[in-house]
Amino acid sequence: MITQSALQSFNRMETPFFYYDMDILRATVEKFVSTLDKYGVTAHYAVKANSNDRILKTISGAGIKAECATGNEITLALANGFAADGIFFDGVAKTDKEIITALKAGVELFNCESIQELEVIDAIAGGMGVKAAIAVRVNPDVDAKTHKYITTGTEEDKFGISSWAFDELFATLARCRNLQFTGIHMHAGSQITDMNVYAELCKKASEFEKLFTQRGFDVKLLNLGGGLGVDYEKPLDNWMPDIEGLCRTISQNISLKPGQTIHIEPGRAMVANCAHIISRVVYVKEGLKKKFAILDCGMHTLIRPALYQASHKVENLSCREPLEKYDVVGCVCESSDTFAKGLLGGAPHRGDFFAIHSAGAYGQVMNMRYLQRDLAPAVYSDDIK
Ligand SMILES: Cc1ncc(COP(=O)(O)O)c(C=O)c1O
Repeated sequence: MITQSALQSFNRMETPFFYYDMDILRATVEKFVSTLDKYGVTAHYAVKANSNDRILKTISGAGIKAECATGNEITLALANGFAADGIFFDGVAKTDKEIITALKAGVELFNCESIQELEVIDAIAGGMGVKAAIAVRVNPDVDAKTHKYITTGTEEDKFGISSWAFDELFATLARCRNLQFTGIHMHAGSQITDMNVYAELCKKASEFEKLFTQRGFDVKLLNLGGGLGVDYEKPLDNWMPDIEGLCRTISQNISLKPGQTIHIEPGRAMVANCAHIISRVVYVKEGLKKKFAILDCGMHTLIRPALYQASHKVENLSCREPLEKYDVVGCVCESSDTFAKGLLGGAPHRGDFFAIHSAGAYGQVMNMRYLQRDLAPAVYSDDIK
């Protein structure tokens, strides 16, 4: 929530910035922890969603583990309180240097995406005289029913090993003496709100588990990846993601064998709704048929709308009425730099504060300095109460 006193304090600040509501973050993380405990599911927070130090410390402090996609994310996770032996190292393009970083750190396991990657990790681990614990990311060929750029689990995606390559996979695993096989990893895509997608993913996990077991591999863990969605349309009323629904779906669709564990890798769901971009209107431009509120943030601050046609709730915090229809656009010289078309909101004026909600995931982490603009800093609710 953006309180009146927070709004007052914004007057003293340069815009744009990411405003982190730490109460929302803590409540979300607490809900995850209690629900995961109830259903016996282990979560590894996907650091890529938001790798801000204070966010990471809050999540690691609650006992949640980490999922990292690069060597640098591993280093950052370790510096912010995540234990190495709870880190899952994901990614389609792990370099030799990153594999060495991960082995030296002692990560829990590598989620491997290709047969060549298995061979490279085997060789590097052998050279270092260690065994690398690995899980195999299999391609579930499940349609996440989400935007095509954030769908990652269908047959044609670059991610994971498809079932038609399993014979070669099994032969590789049997040959690679420095790999310790632990289980199966999947990830269908991002911003999944339809629990049927997860139900289908659970079914696939059980099918794959049977296949691997039949071939003599001991499947100790099943990992369904991330992807849990949030409500971008009504984030102020419905900011809590449906972690209960996800865990219930898992418990209804997977029966674990003794000693087996089940894992998820949520990123967006944990952090999306704790942050708002606070921006000022630089100019109001009156067109022949349209009015534009031109903000001092842009696609370099939040690239999701331009990159995936993502829609975020946009609000004029300074003026609630009269209501007018207008477009809310960013300050970059690209037409795709638009945050809302035909918004019905409080009439915009130069200097008004606008909030772009649900900016906590894939927001600040994707900032860039296009046009040599400054990076938007973080402001935390804890510091201005
Ligand atoms: C393998 C893997 N796990 C977890 C995530 C996190 O996804 P989300 O932020 O949608 O939960 C991603 C996102 O790209 C991913 O690729």
